[in-house]
Amino acid sequence: MKKIKVLDKEFVVSIPSEEIQKAIAKMAKTMNKDLKGKDPLFIVILNGAFVFASDLLKNININCQVSFLKMASYHGTTSTGKIRDLIGIDEDLKGKTLVVVEDIVDTGLTLEHVLKILKAHKPAEIKIATFLFKPDAYKKKIKIDYIGMEIPNEFIIGYGLDYNGYARNLKDIYVLAE
Ligand code: IMP
Repeated sequence: MKKIKVLDKEFVVSIPSEEIQKAIAKMAKTMNKDLKGKDPLFIVILNGAFVFASDLLKNININCQVSFLKMASYHGTTSTGKIRDLIGIDEDLKGKTLVVVEDIVDTGLTLEHVLKILKAHKPAEIKIATFLFKPDAYKKKIKIDYIGMEIPNEFIIGYGLDYNGYARNLKDIYVLAE
């Protein structure tokens, strides 16, 4: 299988682009049905979720708004457990249906942090949509409403996910080569 090199590590394709798009179309179908008439505000968690959010939102066909929150918790290939950098939201969230859009939920620490911030704005409800979910790494009890794919507890890159800032632009998702 073709290997690519990013900085000091080699990676191979794990989820090809076609599979990603199929999973997103399925997710969006459920979300369109569920969120119809709720005029939701999608809150995209940066940096990683920008690629997924773009594809997801092109499949969302109900009235909605989009905003962004910037978070960071990773250094290298394992979670540091520390969350840095936050660029806040300007919109009035009171009484709104919010949909948090994440690229991946790993330990759930970032998600917990995001929810704490958003809840303080007194929205009517908060739904959570993540493209990828690592059930074996998840340490929280927060219910995730929409999941694109469940994946093993392995470090992956591409499709918005980075290795020390690189590889976010890759169309497919890659995993560390053996
Ligand atoms: P959590 O706080 O442990 O759930 O991690 C969430 C954040 O860590 C995600 O939004 C990603 O930015 C990053 N992350 C988690 N797993 C991976 C991975 O396998 N590759 C790259 N980034 C990851």
